[in-house]
Amino acid sequence: MSGVLLEILDHKAVLPPPIWLMRQAGRYLPEYRQLRAKAGSFLNLCTTPTLAAQATLQPVRRFRFDAAIVFSDILVVAAALGVPVTFDEGPKLGAFKSVDSLEFDPVKRFQALRPVYDALGLARRELPERLGLIGFAGGPWTLATYMAAGDGEQKAAKLWSYRDPAGFQRLIDLLVDCVSQHLVEQLKAGADVVQLFDSWAAVLTASGFERWVVEPTTRIVAAVRAAVPGARIIGFPRGASLEGYELYARSTGVDVVSLDTIVPIGWAVGALGKHVVLQGNLDPVALLAGGQALTEAVGVILEATRGTPFIFNLGHGVLPETPVEHVAELVRLVRGGQ
Ligand code: CP3
Repeated sequence: MSGVLLEILDHKAVLPPPIWLMRQAGRYLPEYRQLRAKAGSFLNLCTTPTLAAQATLQPVRRFRFDAAIVFSDILVVAAALGVPVTFDEGPKLGAFKSVDSLEFDPVKRFQALRPVYDALGLARRELPERLGLIGFAGGPWTLATYMAAGDGEQKAAKLWSYRDPAGFQRLIDLLVDCVSQHLVEQLKAGADVVQLFDSWAAVLTASGFERWVVEPTTRIVAAVRAAVPGARIIGFPRGASLEGYELYARSTGVDVVSLDTIVPIGWAVGALGKHVVLQGNLDPVALLAGGQALTEAVGVILEATRGTPFIFNLGHGVLPETPVEHVAELVRLVRGGQ
């Protein structure tokens, strides 16, 4: 990769900062809705490399983003482990008998996840050289919450972790393996950097956060770098406490920490900036609102991060009802009105 994202990852402050958005591909784009209708189902879109590559490229064709993120989902890893996954209003996962009944064979998991690597390869070929390509996976804790409950509620995973910590640890260990493998293969297929989404970090106690988010992330970072020396990794422990963010930034080894919406950006620059590059954290609702609220919210972030290595992003994903004009306006604002 050449271009501005690489400079930031080498801890150079660049003005204006590079920008990409979590969930930049998706339902707010009319061309995505068209492609999704053609694919028939979301999963078919994820598992057909030519279509997934198109979805990956749509946002960078429409907006002047600095990176594309491969079109896939965090739950493809659960599917590769043998759990039935479907999407209706939200994701639905089938039950599994025991951790031992899941897929321990890396070759079989690779076959199941191959469409993601093929989509990355296709997207890389079409992407201008100066643009970055991002791969991703869910963090083990967040994947475990979906696998334990079958949907997006977190109590089942917490209950399991309290009642049977050794059994739950076995699931987390398997997920550490599978997520590490998935990130390594994406880097080999052409990703410049990978992001770990731990979207449900917020529900854990301080000790739970350490055991189920910080410790597994640290192991994943080490495993990925052992296979791909110098691998660039972004971590997103969404909703962690400020102490949690500090521990995560200081001890996991990630290069970049992606901040959620409620983290005070000035605090993050002072407390985390000495350990990692920062990414974030515009409120997706400010992007939905547009107008003066958007201009002001962008101004606060640009002002606080001036002179530090920083990647402009949202604090969570683009909301499906966001007008495309607001996204174009956001890019213009970040580029200093150009
Ligand atoms: O543009 C991108 O960011 C790349 C694609 C991407 C998707 N999901 C596509 C998607 C990425 C990075 C994800 C990550 C993801 N998936 C997370 C972590 C980030 C976060 O939002 O916290 C999580 C928790 C999931 C699980 C998931 N997938 C949910 C909860 C849902 C349904 C609700 C929703 O937000 O749509 C999905 C479905 C999904 N994943 C869609 C897309 C475009 C919508 C499917 C459709 O088109 O109907």
